[in-house]
Amino acid sequence: MAVLRWGSGWRRRRFAGAAVVLAGLLLVGGAYAAVAPDNAVADQSSKSQLIEEGRKLFAVGCSSCHGLHAEGGTDGEGRIAGPPLIGVGAAAVDFQVGTGRMPAVQPGAQVEQKPRAYTEAETEALAAYVASLAPGPAIPPPQYYDVSQVTDEQLARGGELFRTNCTACHNFAGRGGALPNGRYAPSLMQSSPKHIYEAMLTGPQQMPVFSDQVLYPEDKRAIIAYIVELQQQTDPGGFGLGRLGPVSEGLWGWVVGISLLIAVAIWITAKGVRARRAQHNEE
Ligand code: HEC
Ligand code: HEC
Repeated sequence: MAVLRWGSGWRRRRFAGAAVVLAGLLLVGGAYAAVAPDNAVADQSSKSQLIEEGRKLFAVGCSSCHGLHAEGGTDGEGRIAGPPLIGVGAAAVDFQVGTGRMPAVQPGAQVEQKPRAYTEAETEALAAYVASLAPGPAIPPPQYYDVSQVTDEQLARGGELFRTNCTACHNFAGRGGALPNGRYAPSLMQSSPKHIYEAMLTGPQQMPVFSDQVLYPEDKRAIIAYIVELQQQTDPGGFGLGRLGPVSEGLWGWVVGISLLIAVAIWITAKGVRARRAQHNEE
């Protein structure tokens, strides 16, 4: 059993060969490390490139309303054309541009959603630029809004949180609703999980901000799961009344009921008048 005996000539030769190969590898590795660009530095420079790209896009497409440095701007008559964006964070830009709200085209009670005007890459650059101005909420990583692993319990909790925090404006079925001054809370039936997360994080317009300290990321995920569930539900049939909830259903009852009462009242009055006329004629 020569092979197993330590120190046999064959074994030693093999060991020496391995040592040479190892030394060679170390040498090449060391040389590579010496000449290769530092990864952190590379990251930094690609990041500043992205910011620079975003700054240019911003100057062309956004600065007319938001100011050249996102400090906010006014129109000719001194009205606010666009609010300052210092500190709104990448999440706000990703939400506003990703849902097609920005760039706004004309002033109005509420900026309309349109097909998005910027590609994913351009949106990322715009977001990086605005985020570089001051710290603000970042774009959430995908695992924050991935609802594929949500349990039934979490889903139920999501429904509870949705009813407590969102239905006052968005309706209990997520179909949206009117707000004062010609504004409205939009339907959530087309919203993507990422944009739902970002809406909560940044509170667009009349919507309150639900920061991650107020509504923990796992609560947000549960809410998103519940909304996705609502989106997938088909209408159970019957006269939907727009699924506007008890208020509209009550309103319908009220309108129909009161109309009937009015009709009856008119009929009775008319009858009364006729009776009185008849009485008058007899005298
Ligand atoms: C025509 C004017 C106009 C243009 C152009 C415009 N915006 Fe806006 N932007 C507004 C107004 C007005 C608001 C406030 C919207 C509201 O209250 O609904 C706003 C709001 C925003 C917000 C939300 C701020 C917050 O507090 O959450 C972001 C982010 C934003 N804009 C980014 C952009 C970006 C990026 C562009 C360019 C791609 C752009 N906007 C182009 C007028 C404009
Ligand atoms: C006080 C009323 C109010 C409450 C409460 C509210 N929202 Fe909103 N929400 C709004 C308004 C108004 C908008 C539209 C903002 C705009 O167009 O700039 C909006 C927009 C959104 C959008 C964007 C829809 C899209 O696809 O473009 C999502 C998603 C959303 N809300 C989710 C939620 C969730 C989830 C909650 C509860 C945690 C919630 N909202 C609570 C008023 C509200």
